Amino acid sequence: MTWRKFFLLSVQLLSLRTCIAGAAIHDPKTRIAEMLMRVSTKLETIYMLQEEVMAELDEIRSLRESSEDNDNIHRTNDEVGCVGSVYSLDRASSFVSANETVAMNNGHVVRLDDILYGYDYVFEQKHLFSAGSWLGVQSQQDPWDLVAIQQILWDVKPKVIYDIGTNVGGSAILFAHIMSQYAKPGEALIVSVDPKDYTINWDAQAQRLCPRCTPVADNPLWGQYVRFVKARAVERPALAALQEAIATFGGPVLISVDGWHRYAEVLKQCQVLNQYVTIGSYIIVQDTKLDRFLRKAGPRRAVYDFLKNNADFEIDKSREAFLYSQHSDGYLRRIR
Ligand SMILES: C[S@@+](CC[C@H](N)C(=O)[O-])C[C@H]1O[C@@H](n2cnc3c(N)ncnc32)[C@H](O)[C@@H]1O
Repeated sequence: MTWRKFFLLSVQLLSLRTCIAGAAIHDPKTRIAEMLMRVSTKLETIYMLQEEVMAELDEIRSLRESSEDNDNIHRTNDEVGCVGSVYSLDRASSFVSANETVAMNNGHVVRLDDILYGYDYVFEQKHLFSAGSWLGVQSQQDPWDLVAIQQILWDVKPKVIYDIGTNVGGSAILFAHIMSQYAKPGEALIVSVDPKDYTINWDAQAQRLCPRCTPVADNPLWGQYVRFVKARAVERPALAALQEAIATFGGPVLISVDGWHRYAEVLKQCQVLNQYVTIGSYIIVQDTKLDRFLRKAGPRRAVYDFLKNNADFEIDKSREAFLYSQHSDGYLRRIR
């Protein structure tokens, strides 16, 4: 598609050149005026094509970044050899009671976090995040945290949710479902943002893992409660939509950070967006567990660095309801 558009763009440019050359040879005023009209129409077409090409290149970049991230997780884990082998225990845990041990009936004594590390690993390695759905829409939420998030939404009842990382609409539809239980359509809104179109799943294995999943647009909640913006979370069109939603619906405002889980991106999102979160509500930084898989600073480190310079938020451990959480230390409550 992109190459076809490049081709069209080149044809337009060639024809534009011919137009201008033609104008220079025949000088009667009417002919020049006609040709200038044609030039301006063509320029408009070129501009539109350029916009489309840029959007598609953005989408390609987004998909490529996702597969690179995934490859990294697998590569680093293969290096660590964490299945049946040794991995670093000093990395921050996903589990509140990480160092508690349990004696198995085969005589082994294992830390609870060892077991959960294994679960986290399998969840990533086998793409289990793509196996779940909510109301038929493939949702990449961890089932345990999904319940914790549901509890938060019910307690806070946000009028505006900023859903960073739409993918195919899974988080948006489950947020919308909960929202529909406390607000009528037109009383609250989810602004869901992603530089990639929501009809394309970044995970090539999603179709296999969720064969019964259906497009999010088939669900009426999507039209009633969600405004999708094709942009990155801190880009102008996305921020404008968030600000408009807040101006229309007021608070509480809650933010879910679930784009690419890179340190710099997550930190920036927290720094730019925290101002919109209302007191008592949350920034939910997802997948803090990834730092130890990626073996480098990721969302967890971003949370700690964000909190160093922001005393308005604190980590709410009470939201890690089942002790285990893929977003441990990522439930950030605004306290002032
Ligand atoms: C882990 S998936 C999101 C899953 C989704 N929230 C769900 O629960 O089903 C990550 C998505 O974030 C998008 N993304 C990456 N960087 C982003 C950014 N800066 N702003 C918004 N979305 C971003 C990717 O294109 C991808 O679709």
